[in-house]
Amino acid sequence: MPQSLKIETIVAPDTDALARRAAQQFVEGAEAAVAARGRARIAISGGSTPKATFKLLADPAQPWRARMPWQKLELFWVDERCVPPDHPDSNYRMTREAMLDQVPLAPQQVHRMEGELEPEATAARYESLLRNAFRLEGAETPRFDLVQLGMGPDGHTASLFPHSAALNEIGRLVVANHVENKDAWRVTLTWPVINQAVNVFFLIGGADKAPVLSEVFTGPRDTDRLPSQLIRPASGILTLILDKAAAALLPAVDGTGRGVFERKE
Ligand code: 6PG
Repeated sequence: MPQSLKIETIVAPDTDALARRAAQQFVEGAEAAVAARGRARIAISGGSTPKATFKLLADPAQPWRARMPWQKLELFWVDERCVPPDHPDSNYRMTREAMLDQVPLAPQQVHRMEGELEPEATAARYESLLRNAFRLEGAETPRFDLVQLGMGPDGHTASLFPHSAALNEIGRLVVANHVENKDAWRVTLTWPVINQAVNVFFLIGGADKAPVLSEVFTGPRDTDRLPSQLIRPASGILTLILDKAAAALLPAVDGTGRGVFERKE
């Protein structure tokens, strides 16, 4: 992990602008990956925040659908709930309804986590899928071109929840993780995999996230309580795409809504 982390903040004025700025981040990240490596392998999160962005990416009336290099895109998930793909809680279902049903991605370009299986089986099969997709050998870690993360008010990201077993998993790529306070199983990429990505950005909105953002990025290091602090990309750069309400307790940004600050340890 890099010693010093450069945190770039991009602050949008409101919820709609946040979704639009995130759509731009996805397209720019995919375009850069295709230009550099001929393909774009992107891992997305679930929850509620990304839904508006996924809808914008799929909307033919918006500029991003035409710009996205769909034919060179491969879509992966950062995490999944251990439910069937048509379950209301499924991250895959949310993404299918918001975007996949409307965009030109072939089934072989979309790699969902099979939440309908036993959690350990889901994790093992996804790890095997990643090893094949990235042609990994030995202890190699997949290097996604772009990873989009969210953050819960408790400081979790992906399905790396406070005080959960997955926080200590560094030898595997994908693990099952039991979330005590939800009494539910999840499957998640491990944090070393996320940190290996070329480009990692958090997409976070709402005043309810302002306190945890401040704790995670300006408070003392306490990764067991604030797992989002484990996200320190090997590139040394982490991007936060926020709305004004979520960014309220972070270091100020300039007139264009952009700011940069360092996090030492
Ligand atoms: C999930 C997500 C999770 C999410 C945060 C934020 O499976 O729920 O991957 O990590 O990003 O919980 O969720 P919201 O965007 O709904 O606040």
